[in-house]
Amino acid sequence: MPVRTRPDLDDLAGFSTVPIPADAVELASNELPFGPLDPVLEVIGRAAGRVHRYPDSSGRVLREHLAGRFGVTPGQVSLGAGSIALCLQLAQLTSAPGDEIVFPWPSFEAYSLIARTVGATARRVPLRPDGRVDLTALADAVGDRTRLVFVCTPNNPTGGDLGRAELEKFFDSVPEDVLVVLDEAYWEFVRRPDALDGMAYVRDRSAAGRGNVVALRTFSKAYGLAGMRIGYGVSCEDVADRLRRLALPYSVSSVAQAAAVASLDADEALALRCAAVIEERERVRTELLGLGHEIPVSGANFLWLGLGPHADAFRLHCLERGVLVKAFPGEGVRITVGTGGENARFLAAAAEFRTPAGPAL
Ligand SMILES: Cc1ncc(COP(=O)(O)O)c(C=O)c1O
Repeated sequence: MPVRTRPDLDDLAGFSTVPIPADAVELASNELPFGPLDPVLEVIGRAAGRVHRYPDSSGRVLREHLAGRFGVTPGQVSLGAGSIALCLQLAQLTSAPGDEIVFPWPSFEAYSLIARTVGATARRVPLRPDGRVDLTALADAVGDRTRLVFVCTPNNPTGGDLGRAELEKFFDSVPEDVLVVLDEAYWEFVRRPDALDGMAYVRDRSAAGRGNVVALRTFSKAYGLAGMRIGYGVSCEDVADRLRRLALPYSVSSVAQAAAVASLDADEALALRCAAVIEERERVRTELLGLGHEIPVSGANFLWLGLGPHADAFRLHCLERGVLVKAFPGEGVRITVGTGGENARFLAAAAEFRTPAGPAL
């Protein structure tokens, strides 16, 4: 007799992962092609010598570092095994069956999975044609049953980012008993002059007694620590306290905490590598535009090709040439910016792609 499990999870698709062939150029997961910053590897080695002990479950040292950096109290900082863990905890904290979680689509695919996991209804709001989150439509989608809203900027997978004025207007339009998550996983690559710094915004908003916005960032992307699994959030103290009580004990490893603290001391190296990624991003975008693709402006470390029905054929075409990209079947393909050599291999593959109808894209 099969064990009894939640029937509403029977058709759960799960998070999609792709097998990675040896020697493949990995441009499918928005990681950086570089390793941890100097001297983080050394710190990781030292911390690894103490893994027979449990980590500090409160993450005190890292939380103090982050609090100092953003001008908030350590009590406002939450840590997670990747910011994805915090996304899940925020859903667990706010939403139950019958409630709604509102988010843009296409966007970070985990939002859908997380909504299903907690039994809430996912309300997906289509993006604007320029690949940015449609804040007007998102605000319209918030209703009586909404408990949580995700706003992703720059948006994964399209790269479009939002400006300060439109975001502030949106936050002010959401009822104050609905929690809004500002997902800034790609913040370090944003260069638009009118960008809203989510950490500073949440600091000031919380100080004014308005606690319904939380900003999330991660060490997985610009810091080159995707495999370490560590991300963080800043919110009002009440939300952070509830998140900490809900967190799986010891889920953020001691090695990850040490690596994150050391990474925060490497601002100069971080800025240099982000500048290099952005330069490559613009070079690859220009080449793709030259091939006839329409590519939205990206504020992240990836680019979006709105190939519609040809998305999966493009992915397979690249895979046959040893380049892994991420397809969203029927919608488009997301390409992570790699090293110059990796991007050259991708561009060579892209140049050879022909749709079934002929050379036009
Ligand atoms: C928009 C967005 N948010 C959050 C995450 C989660 O990152 P992590 O759990 O590695 O911190 C990702 C990862 O791809 C992402 O694209």
